[in-house]
Amino acid sequence: FGNGLAATPPMGWNSWNKFGCNVNETVIRDTADAMATNGMREAGYRYVVIDDCWHGPRDANGFITADPVRFPSGIRALSDYVHARGLQFGIYSDAGAKTCGGRPGSQGHEYQDALQYARWGVDYLKYDWCSTGPRNAEEAYALMADALKGSGRPILLSMCEWGTAKPWLWASRIGNLWRTTSDITDKWTGKHDYSLGVAAIADLNEPLWPYAGPGHWNDPDMLEVGNGGMSDAEYRSHFSLWAMMAAPLIAGNDVARMTPSTREILLNRDVIAVDQDAAGIQGHRVWKDGDREVWMKPLADGGRAVLLWNRSEASVPIAADWSMLGYPASLRLRVRDLWTHRDQGQISGRYLATVPAHGVVMVTMRA
Ligand code: DGJ
Repeated sequence: FGNGLAATPPMGWNSWNKFGCNVNETVIRDTADAMATNGMREAGYRYVVIDDCWHGPRDANGFITADPVRFPSGIRALSDYVHARGLQFGIYSDAGAKTCGGRPGSQGHEYQDALQYARWGVDYLKYDWCSTGPRNAEEAYALMADALKGSGRPILLSMCEWGTAKPWLWASRIGNLWRTTSDITDKWTGKHDYSLGVAAIADLNEPLWPYAGPGHWNDPDMLEVGNGGMSDAEYRSHFSLWAMMAAPLIAGNDVARMTPSTREILLNRDVIAVDQDAAGIQGHRVWKDGDREVWMKPLADGGRAVLLWNRSEASVPIAADWSMLGYPASLRLRVRDLWTHRDQGQISGRYLATVPAHGVVMVTMRA
């Protein structure tokens, strides 16, 4: 897909997971201020994306306007505010007549909306899939992609179809990322009405690893790190799994008011480097025995990131055997723990670690 964007998985923040429809210009400004000063921008978080419910009505000429109560200063002023802080600005629409939150969708207004976004200085569009009726997803996303292209401004396209139409088979020609599942929820696992816990999402997204690459990514939905429903060990697992899967790292918490432990997770540069590795190869599971798993992600410099994942309620030892990783048993490798930030020295044969309940040990290995 030729807009030249998202050579590595996009990083940023989106309003939905924390704020839902309670979004307004103060929230967005506070978030941009926080990201510019709390280390997030320097760690790579770039896009500030307003999700659903920013819209007002269409004007007499059919152009979309912002909700005058929630966004009294208008979208152009907000976009300028975000850009002035060295960040990029994203917005949300829907391929149907209405968004999931009941605001005007872009169906029948695609070219006009893309033009308006370009005028506002939008850098990123998340394009949702509510009230699309019998519409064909590939057609709908391709139409908006064409409209964005015609707007003359490079705008990253995030396709939010939830996996029903198997977007991994066609969406890499159209946009930069595609949702692979229904919505994430701030829970460890399982299905909850229409949303899924972290482990359930990882299971659905993992087998799709061959479809991801630079410019086009599987999207297992935005991060829940820091939203309060999981333990820090579980949030470290969530963040590590998303990095192993070369997923977009879109924070979904209140980054202006986060705890030090949430900040430490979101700003873990070693883990972010795995997500952002230039080869853009999505990692995958190479071994599983009950609740114990080993995942591997090849890196651009020939190294590998390796994740030991314990889904169980008790801490257990897990070993990554060199044979699982495609290494000869005698090879000596330098192992670095990406959560303790400690080099483990030269190791051959296997890497054995005790992994906490619902936790991970994440390392890189290099000759
Ligand atoms: C459904 C999407 O999957 C969510 O991420 C969010 O954008 C909501 N719609 C907004 O209504």
